[in-house]
Amino acid sequence: MPAARLDIKDLSAGYGPTRVLENINFCAEKGARIAVLGRNGVGKTTLLATIAGQTKRYQGTIRLGDADVTQMDSTARALSGLGFVPQSRGIFPSLTVEENLFVGLKGRPRSALKEAYDMFPRLYERRANSGSNLSGGEQQMLSTARAILGRPTVLLLDEPLEGLAPVICEELMQAFSRLASGGEMTILMVEQRIRSALDFAERVIILERGRIVWDGTSDGLASDRDTIDQLLGVTSIGH
Ligand SMILES: Nc1ncnc2c1ncn2[C@@H]1O[C@H](COP(=O)(O)OP(=O)(O)OP(=O)(O)O)[C@@H](O)[C@H]1O
Ligand SMILES: [Mg+2]
Repeated sequence: MPAARLDIKDLSAGYGPTRVLENINFCAEKGARIAVLGRNGVGKTTLLATIAGQTKRYQGTIRLGDADVTQMDSTARALSGLGFVPQSRGIFPSLTVEENLFVGLKGRPRSALKEAYDMFPRLYERRANSGSNLSGGEQQMLSTARAILGRPTVLLLDEPLEGLAPVICEELMQAFSRLASGGEMTILMVEQRIRSALDFAERVIILERGRIVWDGTSDGLASDRDTIDQLLGVTSIGH
């Protein structure tokens, strides 16, 4: 399945009685590369988790391609094409690396595992190790590889670079860019490394206290020092 459009209207959500997201509206076109930025605690993880169907929704709709997934639970959304790499990696600790990858195949043949091992040779070396014996960076690779193996039409990534060495970050970002620009996936990425996020994304959404307060192009943001300072709390985006 090729990339799908993700359309969010008037979305408010949170946890139990705690409202976190208020009136979120945006549409990610097929194959879009979007970075979601903002300070700690503004609701970035909650936004991805809400799209994945893992929080309480108070209001609004979520459409994935032609389907209205608003009433679907997280499993049904995953089957409809949504891939989610959560900030807490979701590795099965008692399964091996390879068994964790099997879970991601979603009916595809075992030979597809080669895609994951080509992307992360380290996972091939560690394929017989149990999930509980992986380093933080290896867990990160496993979680990302597992999501990509399922060929999602929309992929949600929550800080995918956390814990990874710089050389791997670069390769991974290139792989994400290829997947999106090749029309295979629409990608929404939360990332603290602003420079990397802007290099990857064509569009940026900035959250503040659960609301979208800035929505524009990466180039536009890169040249807008005031916004970077006020909304991201940094004076420079690095190199
Ligand atoms: N399970 C939960 N129950 C209640 N409140 C929560 C829960 N998870 C997060 N929150 C609250 O929701 C708000 C947004 O949290 P969220 O994790 O979405 O922020 P974030 O932008 O991803 O932050 P960070 O950059 O630190 O990852 C915070 O005030 C947080 O305390
Ligand atoms: Mg978060």
